[in-house]
Amino acid sequence: MNQPLSNSQIRATEALLHPYANPVTIRDAGVQIIERGEGIHVYDDAGRPYIEAMSGLWCAGLGFGNAELVEAAREQMGKLPYYHLFGGKSHEPATELAEKIKEIAPGQMARVFYQSSGSEANETQVKLAWYYNNALGRPEKKKIISRQRGYHGVTIVSASMTGLPYNHRDFDLPVDRILHTSTPHFWKGARPGESEAEFTARIAQDLEDLILAEGPDTVAAFIAEPVMGAGGCVVPPAGYFEAISDICTRHDILMIADEVICGFGRTGEWFGSQSLNWTPTSLSMAKQLTSGYFPLSAVAINRDMAEAIEGNAGKIGTFGHGFTYGGHPVGCAVGVKALEIYHRLDITAHVKSIAPHFAAHLDRLSGHPLVGETRHIGAVGTFELAPGKSPGGFATPGKVGAQMCAELTRRGVICRNIVDSLIFCPPMIITREEIDEMFAPVEDALNATMAWAKAEGHLG
Ligand SMILES: Cc1ncc(COP(=O)(O)O)c(C=O)c1O
Repeated sequence: MNQPLSNSQIRATEALLHPYANPVTIRDAGVQIIERGEGIHVYDDAGRPYIEAMSGLWCAGLGFGNAELVEAAREQMGKLPYYHLFGGKSHEPATELAEKIKEIAPGQMARVFYQSSGSEANETQVKLAWYYNNALGRPEKKKIISRQRGYHGVTIVSASMTGLPYNHRDFDLPVDRILHTSTPHFWKGARPGESEAEFTARIAQDLEDLILAEGPDTVAAFIAEPVMGAGGCVVPPAGYFEAISDICTRHDILMIADEVICGFGRTGEWFGSQSLNWTPTSLSMAKQLTSGYFPLSAVAINRDMAEAIEGNAGKIGTFGHGFTYGGHPVGCAVGVKALEIYHRLDITAHVKSIAPHFAAHLDRLSGHPLVGETRHIGAVGTFELAPGKSPGGFATPGKVGAQMCAELTRRGVICRNIVDSLIFCPPMIITREEIDEMFAPVEDALNATMAWAKAEGHLG
């Protein structure tokens, strides 16, 4: 039996269309109203604390209530609360942040372009890839290859690149010129008897076969998250990005790293592509760029792209792309401060130091009969629920995962189920003791979920 809904819950469902929720069931089940946050915790409207094991949406790397970030925003609000970068105007916070990004980015990035969201960053990436090829006199080289289960956002082209069915269904997506190749998930995708190296070679060959079938002269770019987030936290096998990189380089295809989740220390390096030995031609960033405190995203492009794009725009007379809020001074000031704090905390070293402890907690769960696989890198990881530990998954995907998520929320931990994978992506400032606290209720929640799954017939 559901509790009677509070007035705030009723008002929320009357006023809002909630993203990524079932609008019909939340009318009865209610929404969870979060009121404030401090450190790794958020508090609901009844004052109850939760460990925010997802940093919100992979955002709050510095946790909640960071006074320095708040002060940086307040100060910039007082000085220049809004300005833009159009038509030859600029401002110092935008420049300073771009310089700081270029210092830590892989691949000797030359220019930074700002937007407000990850979707807009990836939309910009596609427009830049098209513009670049037009600049080089290659008007046919326009197709973009992403991956099944990849997540790149929800605007028309970004959602088309996203390789998840519910982002396409009834939205009339994907649009043309966007193709999808195989997911590098060994546990789910390996053929019987296939080694990890053989699997990796086959998945890379799938990409090359697709390029050859379409014609390399028609393919502009390959886009990938170093570690797939919303596809279920998939860490690719060793050698995957080396193989992909070799193929893209041979066919003169741009490589876009979608670092929206992986960027700014999450994987133990500044960028996920550095952890996975990949040097992309451009990067998309957002989320932890400001620790989520202000909507800001950035695209960084290498010198070759910058020269071609700037040269072409010079000929046309203007670069005809830009967002009113792209490079918002408050967002950039918060980004500059976030990077200063990451450096001061030596955040990549901190993530590397807690990663084995975080991984050990997840791996310990692989002994549980309901857990099929664990995956992790740095301070992001998951355990995937599976009937009889089989990678085939449940007959009704996502139900058992949702139940597990609810069991954890009841026990004071907010994480997220992506289908039947329970994702943990806590604020990167988390300590070993707090990691222990975060995982403490998991086994009990797993047992409760298992009993529920048996009763509901999900275990066959
Ligand atoms: C890898 C990746 N790219 C892009 C996006 C889209 O970002 P936004 O929701 O800010 O548009 C997300 C969002 O989670 C993401 O995880």
